[in-house]
Formats: sequence, structure tokens, C-alpha cells
Amino acid sequence: MRNLLNEYAEEHSSLPSEALEWLERQTNIHTNFPRMLSGRIQGELLRLLVKISGARKVLEIGTFTGYSTICLASGLPEDGHVDTLEINDELVDLIYEGWRKAGLVDRISLHTGDAAETLIKLSKKEAAEYDLVFIDADKREYCKYYELVIPMLRKGGILIADDVLWDGKVCADPLPCDSQTRGLLEFNDILAEDPRMETVMLPFRDGISVALKLH
Ligand SMILES: C[S@@+](CC[C@H](N)C(=O)[O-])C[C@H]1O[C@@H](n2cnc3c(N)ncnc32)[C@H](O)[C@@H]1O
Repeated sequence: MRNLLNEYAEEHSSLPSEALEWLERQTNIHTNFPRMLSGRIQGELLRLLVKISGARKVLEIGTFTGYSTICLASGLPEDGHVDTLEINDELVDLIYEGWRKAGLVDRISLHTGDAAETLIKLSKKEAAEYDLVFIDADKREYCKYYELVIPMLRKGGILIADDVLWDGKVCADPLPCDSQTRGLLEFNDILAEDPRMETVMLPFRDGISVALKLH
């Protein structure tokens, strides 16, 4: 079904690059869940948040076909870098083809494997400090990701979490008791109540929270 408001918003937002348009088409053709891709408006929001914040080091949890990674990386200065984490290595060829088309391969490192395990490895590295973190992987694990990434997010850094409204399930009555909804409910409470963070939850698409780390 057509979403006229979404189409109108897309028409009044900056145009995606040819590489992003190509990757969106390929994702629709070659993957089972193309809806997971951030899409044009959210992608542009991510690019602008990186650009406005002046972020140089970005961490993404949940690469999928690399669409949001391109958006994040294209908001960076030339010496900026994105570390992106993905468990499914079947999409690696498509991911790199998209990044090559976007001319951004040099600014991105893909870490394949379970995100929580990769985060533990990254946290042991000396340069493990990020300006912006985007959480978009396993909804059951959002609290674990949060616990692991907060020490790596610099003071004044930005945390973005996708799918926080989970198709409205987080405020359905009765509340669903599946593990993904429960994971998101717990994460949303933890983020909203964390005195170190200033947070806004945007009821856009599946919901996206943007938070500033104060201290
Ligand atoms: C919603 S998609 C990411 C979409 C992408 N950020 C975008 O906007 O185009 C979530 C991704 O997280 C990955 N994922 C799920 N569980 C994971 C885990 N334990 N570790 C790393 N990645 C995981 C999935 O394979 C999937 O590709």
C-alpha cells in the first residue's frame, strides 16, 4: 500500500546517492527481509546526525546490506571511520560492492561475528572511543549492547537506537511476551532512566531513539 506522507517526505529530503539507490534495489532483489534496510529518510537522518555532530569515529551494530553504513560513513570527514558489526556473512559480497560504488570502502571496517563478542574485543583496544553509536541488530540484545557500548561512547557522544517501537508492540494491550518486544521494553526503560543520557524517542517508522551522553 502506498504511504503518501512518506513519499511526500522523501520528495522533500535530500536525494540519495546512486550507490544507495542501487543498494536498495539489490537488497529488495536478493534478501528475504528488505524492510530491515534503513531507507531513504532514516538514512539521510543518520548522515546528517554524523555531519552535524562532527563525529569522526562511528560504531554500527547491525550492518545488514550496508545501506545505513554508507549513510553514516558519508557524513564523516575524510579521516573519519565506521566500525560495523554483522553476524550474517552471506551478504559480504553485496555489502562490499555497495561500499565500493559509494567510494567509501576505505572508511569502513566490517567485523563479522556475534556483535556482543565483537564489542568485548573492541573494548579492549586502546582506541576504543566512539563519537556516535548506532544500535540496529538483535532486539533481544539491546540492553547488552548498551552496557557494552556506553563505556566506549565519549562524553558528548550520540547514541542512536533503531526499531524501539517495534511496530507498536511496545505499547500494545495486552503487552506481547515475545523476547524481542521484552528486550526493547527493557532497553527503552534503561535508556530513558539513565541520568547520564538525554534522550528523545521519535515515533518515525519503527521508532528511533537519539540520545546524548552527558557524562
Ligand atoms: C535491522 S538489520 C540492520 C539494518 C541496517 N542497519 C540498515 O539500516 O540498513 C539487523 C541486522 O543485525 C544482524 N544481527 C542480528 N543479530 C546479530 C548479532 N547477534 N550480532 C551481529 N549482528 C546481528 C542481522 O543479521 C541483520 O543484518
